[in-house]
Amino acid sequence: MQTLTPLSLTVNGRPVTTSVDPSTLLVELLRGPLGLTGTHVGCDTSQCGACTVLLDGRAVKSCTVLAVQAAGCEVGTVEGLAAPDAPLHPVQEAFVACHGLQCGFCTPGMIMSACGLLAQNPNPTEAQIVDALEGNLCRCTGYVNIVAAVKQAAGAMAGGAR
Ligand code: FES
Ligand code: FES
Repeated sequence: MQTLTPLSLTVNGRPVTTSVDPSTLLVELLRGPLGLTGTHVGCDTSQCGACTVLLDGRAVKSCTVLAVQAAGCEVGTVEGLAAPDAPLHPVQEAFVACHGLQCGFCTPGMIMSACGLLAQNPNPTEAQIVDALEGNLCRCTGYVNIVAAVKQAAGAMAGGAR
């Protein structure tokens, strides 16, 4: 018989109490029982970064974290950046304005990595942006517009947008 482990955490500011198989990945919890399918799965080798979320403010690949490792933590997903009826988050706005996406599959992970970077370093250099996005792969854009978007978001946030 499967033994479930009780788990309490906060997801996008909302307390969540559940039980999981101890082998459940954080991305599986988010996309499955919690229905937060904005966090994508693009590989099975921990390389693509499409599954990136914030774990206590730091960007992590949620396919590399067990759900039980997030016990007591604050998890942030792309759904938590802006309410459906609210303006987009400045990083989301900047991705739109700079054409930082094409198919969009990598975009939630890119945006969460960018949010993690800007939380730690509000005024990153281009090299620091490239470094922070190193674990996020994009098949479409060539990355130039993504880096430009993160720069623009940094400027907007420094100017008072969130
Ligand atoms: S799904 Fe590719 S790194 Fe997590
Ligand atoms: S926009 Fe298509 S993978 Fe990045």
